[in-house]
Amino acid sequence: MNFRVLLVFLTASLFSVSGAEIKPALMPMPKRMVSAAGGLRIDTKFRVAFMSKPEARLDRAAHRMIAELSLQTGLPLQDATVSDTRSATLVIDCQETTDRPDTLGQSEAYRLDVNPSQARLHSATVVGALRGLQTFLQLIVPGESSFVAPAVQIEDEPRFAWRGLLLDVTSHFMPISVIERNLDAMEAVKLNVFHWHFTDDQGWRVESSRYAKLHQLGSGGQYYTRAQILHVLAYAHDRGIRIVPEFDMPGHSATWLIGYPELASAPGPYSIIHTFGVYDPVLDPTKEIVYQFIDGLIDEMAALFPDPYFHIGGDEVNGKQWKANPSIQAFIREHKLKDEAGLQAYFNQRVEALVKKHGKTMMGWDEVLHPDLPKDIVVESWRDRESMANAARSGHPVLLSWGYYLDHLDSAARHYDVDPLGGPAKDLTPAEAARVLGGEACMWTEYANPETVDSRIWPKTAAIAERLWSPPDVTDHAFMYQRLDRVSDWLDWRGVLHNRNYSQMLQRLAPDAPSDALKTLGDAVEPLGIDGREGDHAYNQSTPLNRLVDAARGESAPVRRLEEKISRYLVSRSAEDEAAIRRELEVWRDNHERLKDAVNSSFLLKEAGPLSEDLARLGEIGLEALDSLHARRIAAADWTKSRIEALDQMEKPRAEVVLAAVRPVRLLVNGAVQPR
Ligand code: ACM
Repeated sequence: MNFRVLLVFLTASLFSVSGAEIKPALMPMPKRMVSAAGGLRIDTKFRVAFMSKPEARLDRAAHRMIAELSLQTGLPLQDATVSDTRSATLVIDCQETTDRPDTLGQSEAYRLDVNPSQARLHSATVVGALRGLQTFLQLIVPGESSFVAPAVQIEDEPRFAWRGLLLDVTSHFMPISVIERNLDAMEAVKLNVFHWHFTDDQGWRVESSRYAKLHQLGSGGQYYTRAQILHVLAYAHDRGIRIVPEFDMPGHSATWLIGYPELASAPGPYSIIHTFGVYDPVLDPTKEIVYQFIDGLIDEMAALFPDPYFHIGGDEVNGKQWKANPSIQAFIREHKLKDEAGLQAYFNQRVEALVKKHGKTMMGWDEVLHPDLPKDIVVESWRDRESMANAARSGHPVLLSWGYYLDHLDSAARHYDVDPLGGPAKDLTPAEAARVLGGEACMWTEYANPETVDSRIWPKTAAIAERLWSPPDVTDHAFMYQRLDRVSDWLDWRGVLHNRNYSQMLQRLAPDAPSDALKTLGDAVEPLGIDGREGDHAYNQSTPLNRLVDAARGESAPVRRLEEKISRYLVSRSAEDEAAIRRELEVWRDNHERLKDAVNSSFLLKEAGPLSEDLARLGEIGLEALDSLHARRIAAADWTKSRIEALDQMEKPRAEVVLAAVRPVRLLVNGAVQPR
């Protein structure tokens, strides 16, 4: 279905129960959806029944759904399952009856029929039913006299089989609670692969019984025990999420070498690297003991992690230690390898044989791409999208992560526009395109910790999830943002802390400052992504992440909404929009006066002083422009010039944030040049 049809479907008179318009915010959008009149009442009589005895995972999922529904609506629904399908509000009809590991490409399809007397969810697989349960939860909104699920027929299945989220737990360790709530959120938006980046120069995060010095010396005490990993594996399985572990090699490997320096390409000693970047430590591909060690490691980890895919990293080998080591250089010559890249390809081939020996399929970042590699290796492209298209052409299954790097703090719209089958992949033949498995959002955590990481991932990852699930023609930004705002709030009920931590972190900056004034400032700025933070401030793993830049969300929804309002006003010139815009600008104008004492007295807020002053100035400039527009007066050329210059100055990053509020004011100033 074309998105315009859907848009009409969602925003017009549909979903009207007793005359009131109801707009559920489904995200990702289903493949096919047809509405009908009326809706299903959801109240304390809500009951779930199964057509046949449910498989245990589905039974747990139904109980979880009831608990989530209870949270989301505030309805007490303690024991809401019944055996009588006629009296049930929701009937689940799932054909699969045995529990089994989730596999790539398994059916996730479901059908959901909601009518005023009952909802019915049909699926061939348990995972299909899990996806449908989330859609059901998203449908439920307050109606005129109760909560309702609008009457609808949905037939849904994903566009791509691999829809992942990578979480780096090395740069900053992420406790189990972080993993759990992010798995909950992944389930909510139908993501199905958790890529767990376990090892790097900054940390080794998995307990190894075979090589205990890895976690004992490489983690600073911050690692997951086997019991914790088994718990997370079960937790993810319950939510229909596969877990793919990554053990990065041969580079990013300082933490291997602390306890096992004999694997290194240069003499040690080695230690945990607490700063961030690309470093020299690298395994020595010329030593047999390296392969024996990797064999043992894969043996242990392949038994722990049930998924058939095993990620060996392979990124960012700088080759310095290989170049400097005469015996490694001699090996390159003897084996007629072209250079260091050839040596890494040799290493990858050896490792691939070991991965295969333990029954797994190897994955690696796009650096692993080499003509001699077996074609079943999955290539994950992060440096560019050409490498993805090239890998698909040369026969590899591929994943796209370029364009989905959450640490860049790009807008949701920017991620949303990246289609795995767009760009250079448009020219792939159908057989090559079929090798594009999907993509992964990547959350590298140099500048994120357990307190801030949710706000870097959510809600924008829901937009990426939609890109990977929904039909390719669901692309409209306004429609996406309209639903993303709702999904963002919905995720609060799942325990995601992107919204909750924002208020707390703002108040921490100055406990006595008025919270609404802090929020006005926080909403007016956007933090710089990794590119803007590297080099500015000497960060390491123990640098506090407690400044305005850390509190602020990756993309300011209030600024975006004001931009939307101004764009609309410039066309419609509606008095209502004008009044609303004026009110916001007045709040900005007056905000610094309310914050200035706190700015002067808090070491945390001090750096934000110039931004707060500029926000007041922005309010003034915006009001001047609005006055011109209101009077249908063409702004004077010298006024325009000086204001544009001021805006250009104000848009320069300070304190590692940008004053996003410049954008809507620029729209007004430009609009005032040619008022209509
Ligand atoms: C990567 O971002 N180094 C895969």
